[in-house]
Amino acid sequence: MGNILSERRILLGVTGSIACYKAADLASKLTQQGASVTAILTAAARQFITPLTFQSVTGQRAYVDEDLWGHEGHIQHLGLAHGADLIAIAPASANTIAKIAHGICDNLLTLTCLAATCPILIAPAMDSGMYTHPTTQANVEILKQRGVYVAGPATGRMASGLTGIGRMLEPSEILGHLRWVLGRQEGRLKGKRLVVTAGGTSEPIDAVRVITNRSSGKQGFAIAQAAIDQGAEVTLITGPTALPTPVGARRIEVNTAQEMLTAVLEAISAADALVMAAAVADFRPETVVTEKLSKEEGIPQLRLTLAPDILSAVAHFRSRSGYPRVVIGFAAESGDLVERARQKLVRKRLDLIVANDITAPDSGLGADTNRVTLIDPAGNVQSYPLMTKDEVAQILIEKLVSLLEISS
Ligand code: CTP
Repeated sequence: MGNILSERRILLGVTGSIACYKAADLASKLTQQGASVTAILTAAARQFITPLTFQSVTGQRAYVDEDLWGHEGHIQHLGLAHGADLIAIAPASANTIAKIAHGICDNLLTLTCLAATCPILIAPAMDSGMYTHPTTQANVEILKQRGVYVAGPATGRMASGLTGIGRMLEPSEILGHLRWVLGRQEGRLKGKRLVVTAGGTSEPIDAVRVITNRSSGKQGFAIAQAAIDQGAEVTLITGPTALPTPVGARRIEVNTAQEMLTAVLEAISAADALVMAAAVADFRPETVVTEKLSKEEGIPQLRLTLAPDILSAVAHFRSRSGYPRVVIGFAAESGDLVERARQKLVRKRLDLIVANDITAPDSGLGADTNRVTLIDPAGNVQSYPLMTKDEVAQILIEKLVSLLEISS
């Protein structure tokens, strides 16, 4: 299944805006994700940046208006339009937005847009006054109604020094929007509702102190992104983390195991699948002191009690309702990995468990990589080599697709 951007043919339209410098970064990021990126620059874009910049980062020829009048110019726009899986115009100037809204084909980019049948995404970039002008707003509306996907713009500091709406989204954000658009086209989880939990919970001791763990949330967020790549509707229930929300995910932030339990039970009633990647507390302080504990009162004696086991509650809910149809859990282990994970699979009535050895520095909590073993109820044990958490997420989503097919 792989990364949704890999081997995708993306036409990157670049139009006249100072945000052109970010377009080069976007082209580079897309190329690094395995996409084949062909840039088309308008004449105004060339005042800010050169075709050579795009050729250098993409390894592909970049096109300009003169190519329209070259030896194959009469069909150039058709070849470019029909060879693309997606057209992204970033930055999209007010002028180009107006042209494509009204079918004005006086340059290679707008001509190509009119000839294209693939999805089109625009990332507007212009001065606030120009963006909020009724003319631009009406043009953006026309495009939206025709199914063009509009990413941004953001509010922030403008090239003029003023603050307002009109900044092009950052390349990493545009990348997220592109993934979402591609997932909606042909994803294998289209129409499926998925709940993913991520991060560690945080159990209060007093007004300022908490008990938590080293989970970063990276694996859960990567799973949410891989599911969106496949067109799923994702609810991401997460403990405290600064990770950015994958574009398209509904993020619900919680602190404690109890809050996560409430959020999970609410979300799964309408879900096809649950992936419990969160590192949920097993124990929490029995009582929470509302003020800040002070040294003057002596060393506090913490009494712990069991935190709710979310997967056990899910198993109970599922035995009555049949939802979610598929449940995948994780097992963070520090010894006798397979046997302990197998016991958890049975105890928590899971369809698949992802076991990882948390004692390895390159695997498990906090790391960017993971070394996982997948175990299913039939006794199949599959161990994978060290991979990035994104790669682990793609493998899991592939498994989820087949589990959902079997269960339907
Ligand atoms: N989990 C849960 N609720 C908890 C603790 C864990 O739902 N209170 C989930 C985790 O999200 C994970 C799975 O259960 O998917 C296994 O978590 P793990 O911490 O490995 O196991 P525990 O249930 O805590 O068992 P043990 O304490 O024996 O390791």
